[in-house]
Amino acid sequence: MSDSLHPASRPCRIAVLASGRGSNLAALVAARAAGRLPVEFAGVFSDRAGAGALDIARAHGIPALALSPKEFADRAAFDESLFSRIAAVQPDLIVCAGYMRLISEAAVRRFAGRMINIHPSLLPKYPGLHTHARAIAAGEREHGASVHYVIPALDAGPVIAQATVPVLAGDTPETLARRVLEREHPLLVASVRLLAEGRVRQAGAAVELDGRPLPAPLLLGPDQELHLPCVSSTA
Ligand code: GRF
Repeated sequence: MSDSLHPASRPCRIAVLASGRGSNLAALVAARAAGRLPVEFAGVFSDRAGAGALDIARAHGIPALALSPKEFADRAAFDESLFSRIAAVQPDLIVCAGYMRLISEAAVRRFAGRMINIHPSLLPKYPGLHTHARAIAAGEREHGASVHYVIPALDAGPVIAQATVPVLAGDTPETLARRVLEREHPLLVASVRLLAEGRVRQAGAAVELDGRPLPAPLLLGPDQELHLPCVSSTA
């Protein structure tokens, strides 16, 4: 039985949503070019015409489109237009990589189980904005990033994989963000690879790897690969 997002006869098609510079998109593009990511890019979409991610897409011959939220009556109308355009390029998987807009429930439901997001915190800690500053203010010794399925509640979907970094004495939100971002790139590449290979799927509130529920998110190792977590037992 295969729960693959796409037919075995062709690679997984991904659409990427990004609002900013696009370093996570660039990591996906580089991994694919190096033969380390079996996907094809269906398109890159943004809510900001000036997003660097669009330039990266165009430089690599990937269709790129921005829509301005200001030209729509409300979030529902914007998302209906954006996600219809995304649907038109027939992606198997939508990757939110620095997409900074809330997504309407209708759009989330339309692509349930086929839309993931990378978030710069160890979810469920620090959903939302300013995660690095909040982690420092709370005295965290460890911070990181998560790749999770998108559900209607913000940054709350089942977590597929995480990467951790230490919080160092003297860290500012900027130095910590840089350290996290370095790990975001291999985390996203490795997560998308597992999805593209059909090895990971959402099963309700859980994530399955090779048909078995994960007891906790996969963890990015120093080898840039994802590993099963060691789950301690108190039994
Ligand atoms: C990343 O830190 C991502 O986790 C967050 O926004 C940032 C986007 O960076 N959601 P980039 O545009 O991929 O460089």
